[in-house]
Amino acid sequence: MSALRTLDDLLAEGVSGRRVLVRADLNVPLDKQTGAITDDGRIRAVLPTLGALVEAGAKVVVCSHLGRPKGAPDPQFSLGPVAGRLGELLGAPVHFATDTVGDSARSTVADLADGQVALLENLRFNAGETSKDEAERGAFADQLAAFGDAYVDDAFGAVHRKHASVFDVPARLPHVAGRLVLREVEVLSRLTGEPERPYVVVLGGSKVSDKLAVIEALLPTVDRLLIGGGMCFTFLKAQGLEVGTSLLEKDMVETCRNLLERSGGKIMLPVDVVVADAFAPDAAHDTVRVDGIPSHRLGLDVGPETVAGFSAALSQAKTIFWNGPMGVFEMPAFAAGTRGIAEAITKADAFSVVGGGDSAAAVRALGLDESSFGHISTGGGASLEYLEGKTLPGIAALEN
Ligand code: 3PG
Ligand code: MG
Repeated sequence: MSALRTLDDLLAEGVSGRRVLVRADLNVPLDKQTGAITDDGRIRAVLPTLGALVEAGAKVVVCSHLGRPKGAPDPQFSLGPVAGRLGELLGAPVHFATDTVGDSARSTVADLADGQVALLENLRFNAGETSKDEAERGAFADQLAAFGDAYVDDAFGAVHRKHASVFDVPARLPHVAGRLVLREVEVLSRLTGEPERPYVVVLGGSKVSDKLAVIEALLPTVDRLLIGGGMCFTFLKAQGLEVGTSLLEKDMVETCRNLLERSGGKIMLPVDVVVADAFAPDAAHDTVRVDGIPSHRLGLDVGPETVAGFSAALSQAKTIFWNGPMGVFEMPAFAAGTRGIAEAITKADAFSVVGGGDSAAAVRALGLDESSFGHISTGGGASLEYLEGKTLPGIAALEN
């Protein structure tokens, strides 16, 4: 990879009085009922970059997506609450524009004083942001680029998206990588380079199909691949076991069988699971061996013997990457697996990386000490695609 120009390079040129457009990933989880921000990790992660620009006297124009609105304004995905939280964390008001590139955005940006911060409304309220049509994306990128004299990408969680604000704007403005993007790339390149061994990867989450590419890419590289979460049931089925009403991707069973055959014994699957009568926090539940899952029950967590086995493998590791919860950790009855694995990772004498919005949120929701992990990535899909060795549009755009 060619060297990226960085925020320090931009600061060295001097940014006082200049408008700096910052693409951030402020796509934070919101409470479904109240709309409150349930985890502000992604907002805190961008503070070093924003703070440095404020300090240097830039007019800072921040843009982000939130959720997946369909190219038109949708109040449930407004960045308004994020502007409030960002202001609290920065210790200075954030001027919120109620549109992305319209009248409100234009006047908000025009009124910024040196060292002040504006946040534009959700990028995805505009069809041009995610359009597959180059011209449509380009037209939107032109409007965004008009708000900056320079561009900083600090949206690591979105660098795998070929979207206007990530891919097309840097082609229109002098561009650099922000502190977060730089740190993420430095850390993840340690995993794709020559990781210290044993290198153990833990994958969870619900779908095999989401993780297939990364499993394929990692199998030759890792020493051990531990699989839990909803996706383990498709693997268990591939071993000929019955999985009751657990999550199952029928069309992936053959693929999983093939992966297991080719894995040279590197893949470790659960030996026991917590099964419940229903997907509900108060559902009756028991721990059973994987060859004894009742036909009417579904698995919602890995069991204690699995945690012990996975923990033993993790205790040997020198490098660890973890993506995806082991069970439905949001429900206390099914959180022990995720907690146990997270604790084993913190105890290991290893360089550990937690990848993914969900896993990072799990670490914080379970009250674990973030500083006992080597690095907690803000990118889910982005960190997986990085490990797959794919070209990430947002990084490629910064390199040009
Ligand atoms: C994420 O949450 O993974 C990033 O913010 C990217 O969001 P997206 O998957 O909706 O593009
Ligand atoms: Mg995602």
